[in-house]
Amino acid sequence: MAFLLRIAALAILAPSVRLQAIQDSRCYLMNGGAVESFFISEDTPVGSVIGTLSVNGDPSPSGDISLSVQERDAALRIPAGSKNLTLARALDREQRAGPASLYVNVRCDRRGTTDPSFIIPVSVRVWDVNDNAPEWIGAPFEARVSELASVGSRVLAAPARDADQPGPHATVHYVVLPGPHSEFIGFANELDSTLVVKKPLDYERVRNFTLTLRAQDAGTPPRYSDTQLTVRVLDADDQNPKFTHDHYTALVPDDVQEGTILKTSPGPISAADQDVGINAPLYYAVASEAGSSAALVRVERESGRVAAAAALRDADLPATIVIKATQVDNADRYALAALELSRAAPRRVRFLRRAFAARVREDAAPGALLLALHTAPPQAPLQFYVSDKSFLDKFAINSAGEVLLKKSLDYETTDSYNYQVMVTDGVSNDTATVNITVLNVNEWEPRFRFPHYEFQLDTDAMEDEDSDVAASGLGAVGRLEVHDGDRADSVSLTLRGTHAPLFYINDSGEMFLRREALATMNSSVLHVVATAVDSGDPPRQTSVPVSVRVVGRGWGALGGARGGGGTRGAALGALGAALALLALLVLALLLYICRRRRRRSKNGSASALTLPPEKPPSAVGVGSVGSTGGTRNAVSAGEAVGSGEGGGARGLSAKRVGGRQHHPGRLHRQPGPRRQWCASE
Ligand SMILES: *[C@@H]1O[C@H](CO)[C@@H](O)[C@H](O)[C@H]1NC(C)=O
Ligand SMILES: *[C@@H]1O[C@H](CO)[C@@H](O)[C@H](O)[C@H]1NC(C)=O
Ligand SMILES: *[C@@H]1O[C@H](CO)[C@@H](O)[C@H](O)[C@H]1NC(C)=O
Ligand SMILES: *[C@@H]1O[C@H](CO)[C@@H](O)[C@H](O)[C@H]1NC(C)=O
Ligand SMILES: *[C@@H]1O[C@H](CO)[C@@H](O)[C@H](O)[C@H]1NC(C)=O
Ligand SMILES: *[C@@H]1O[C@H](CO)[C@@H](O)[C@H](O)[C@H]1NC(C)=O
Repeated sequence: MAFLLRIAALAILAPSVRLQAIQDSRCYLMNGGAVESFFISEDTPVGSVIGTLSVNGDPSPSGDISLSVQERDAALRIPAGSKNLTLARALDREQRAGPASLYVNVRCDRRGTTDPSFIIPVSVRVWDVNDNAPEWIGAPFEARVSELASVGSRVLAAPARDADQPGPHATVHYVVLPGPHSEFIGFANELDSTLVVKKPLDYERVRNFTLTLRAQDAGTPPRYSDTQLTVRVLDADDQNPKFTHDHYTALVPDDVQEGTILKTSPGPISAADQDVGINAPLYYAVASEAGSSAALVRVERESGRVAAAAALRDADLPATIVIKATQVDNADRYALAALELSRAAPRRVRFLRRAFAARVREDAAPGALLLALHTAPPQAPLQFYVSDKSFLDKFAINSAGEVLLKKSLDYETTDSYNYQVMVTDGVSNDTATVNITVLNVNEWEPRFRFPHYEFQLDTDAMEDEDSDVAASGLGAVGRLEVHDGDRADSVSLTLRGTHAPLFYINDSGEMFLRREALATMNSSVLHVVATAVDSGDPPRQTSVPVSVRVVGRGWGALGGARGGGGTRGAALGALGAALALLALLVLALLLYICRRRRRRSKNGSASALTLPPEKPPSAVGVGSVGSTGGTRNAVSAGEAVGSGEGGGARGLSAKRVGGRQHHPGRLHRQPGPRRQWCASE
């Protein structure tokens, strides 16, 4: 304000000054102005002359004026004896290092006068220079970028600021300096601090890298500063696993067993995730289940080891198997490799089975093919050997390995044959077992020992309350002996005929008369047909007629011997007559004995009139019918199951029906009657 007033005063005083100037112009500005102005660069060095005051007069020591800066500590000085203004302190347009502008008053005194001092205002303005380089904010920079980040996606902002006055000096241009990997990341544009992906990253190629960023202003010359950006690439699951090798081979040893681990070359089968940073776990498998070769091996899931399957032993090699390694966490990421299997050596001849077995009907015709001993590889000529010579008795092997029947078999003699066979091609050999099982055929029908059976049964015994018949309700009749030539067969017996219901026959062939049958019986001779059926397939059967003569009270003397054949009728009749005669004699003898006993008992003996209750020789040997049965119990000795045909007295019913001589007669127990021989007396 004071300054302005002073200017105004000067202006008012001007006419008078001008008047005086005519006399004295000292301390007036030459350009007629009242103010001296300077415009300097802010980077003007301290001590430099920023200008000269255009004031009239000579300031030298011998001169007529003196100049001085009125303010103390002013940023401008005037060296003694000069009109120069020198800079005493640094200036700064940004007002950081010093003031951005100066106003000082220079006092001008006219020497040798008493004139008041003249005040010359001096204004110094500062113009901006590019004295600041851009400064990075937050440097150095670090960024983590997924390798899947697409081109153009933002990485981060790396701003820089220039302290110069707005304008070119403060306008920052960003650039990534050329260098390794500088192609991957760049600024979106040179005036933007945003860094973006410029080129797809690949973790597998570059994991981390460092770029140099430059921020530069537009001054002349420009100023810049550099910083570092470290980029770390993050792995993503963008890669399939990879096998160490694309192609493996394995030699299959000749004696390969199921489970044998195959050695692969050029190395163990292994794969790894190519996303190294993720390195997902893998599992291994045979790739195609469809192909037949897939069944030759098993691949261990974790280790990738290849184990032989059972089928490998006989497989046609070479074969190629595709092995697949799959990421456990992502089934879409997998790799394939081929495994070629081939034989380690020329194959040794061998049987395709360790054991061969055949089942042959015993009636198979000689020459029949029983079994083929398959070998591998099927190469001729082969020779076969059998462990035991006896093999050749019944069988033969031809050069094709076929086992043929040489002589007919018999199940009943031998039901199985076990041999070891060896095959050789002259170099190698192999052995196997051969089992030939003979199957039983129902060759024989059951055969009764006799074509016709006749039994005699004394019913009195059955009525005896004490006998075991009372308990069982069955009176033993006799036994039908049946034999079947087929060892394995069992035979079952049945009875048919009108009288069949009266009887019971058990599985041993023992025949019984049912006790209740006594009541309904209306004939002294009962006829049934016994049928034996075997268990063969198909079953075979035989029937024989069986006659049972029933004797006893009420039946006792019924009927004589029954002829089994017409030719024997006459002979039997004569025999009957002879026997009747014998019976009469016996009767007479008995009467005599009875009388004697009675007489003796009358003489004081209390002995019973009956025979002692000892059992009679109830078992009647077939061959001894005549001797024992004939004497006392001939009637009940009718079981004709013996040999000794034609020998001795045969008793009343000793009708022989053609038994086989070589079967010794069996003793048949029959409840013996306890007859009171003299009771009727
Ligand atoms: C004043 O400055 C000029 C250059 O600007 C220089 O040549 C001269 O010598 C200076 N005068 C004195 C007295 O320093
Ligand atoms: C950068 O990668 C190298 C190997 O490529 C590694 O040795 C280094 O530690 C990594 N630096 C950082 C900071 O991860
Ligand atoms: C069978 O082969 C083995 C070797 O595998 C050999 O030792 C043996 O002598 C051979 N036997 C015959 C009878 O050729
Ligand atoms: C062969 O016969 C033997 C003895 O009879 C028997 O132990 C073996 O199990 C049989 N083998 C076959 C395959 O039938
Ligand atoms: C058949 O009867 C006889 C005589 O009672 C007996 O010894 C035999 O064990 C019986 N057989 C069967 C299979 O029941
Ligand atoms: C004897 O009895 C049976 C039934 O048990 C009968 O079928 C048959 O006709 C009878 N015979 C006579 C001669 O009465």
